[in-house]
Amino acid sequence: MNAHDVIKAWDEAGPKHIHPSRGVSEEAYWASGEQTAHQLAEVLKPGWRVVDFGVGDGRVAIPLRRLGFEVTGADASPTMLTALAGNDPGLPQVQTDGSDLYAQLGHKADAVVCLAVLIHHGRASVLTILDGLCKAVRKGGLLILDWPTSAHPEEAQIWIDVTTWDPDVQQAEAAKRGLKRVEGDHPWAVFRKS
Ligand SMILES: C[S@@+](CC[C@H](N)C(=O)[O-])C[C@H]1O[C@@H](n2cnc3c(N)ncnc32)[C@H](O)[C@@H]1O
Repeated sequence: MNAHDVIKAWDEAGPKHIHPSRGVSEEAYWASGEQTAHQLAEVLKPGWRVVDFGVGDGRVAIPLRRLGFEVTGADASPTMLTALAGNDPGLPQVQTDGSDLYAQLGHKADAVVCLAVLIHHGRASVLTILDGLCKAVRKGGLLILDWPTSAHPEEAQIWIDVTTWDPDVQQAEAAKRGLKRVEGDHPWAVFRKS
């Protein structure tokens, strides 16, 4: 499964499949994003320029912007970006698959947040996307990644599957990119770029 096929599948599926809470209610969906934004705000510094990569329709980006961060939404899917603009017309957005994120932004971000995106890609695609995200973050900035590890790693076969990583492989790939794990009780992997 290549990155193009995963992106196409998300574009066709649209925002209704973004998070399981949407199956409960719209209220539950937006409340889940609000909760995640507050958790992120414990890690991010006030006023930071933050990219939500794989922003979807803004479940997390919109409440994060309301908390005072300078948020840009990035996504490869035109369907998602149209939905994002409908939900928050003032939220800056860029269309990218990650490879040209830095060029699209025109600046280095203080942090890139990437939730429920890498999990759906095969390992080779994840590493390519990571290279793009690393380029877009300033030295000393953070990458906050949904990048799950497992004692029994599996690789996604279809767009909605989840890829898990051997912890040692993950650490080695992070180190190659100058990413150092920030210890703490976070729901995601937090790395500082050196
Ligand atoms: C499960 S949704 C998650 C949305 C959002 N991060 C959230 O947690 O609400 C996955 C999103 O990632 C986007 N996406 C997947 N692969 C991507 C890639 N390589 N580059 C940019 N966007 C991608 C999809 O279009 C979709 O909007």
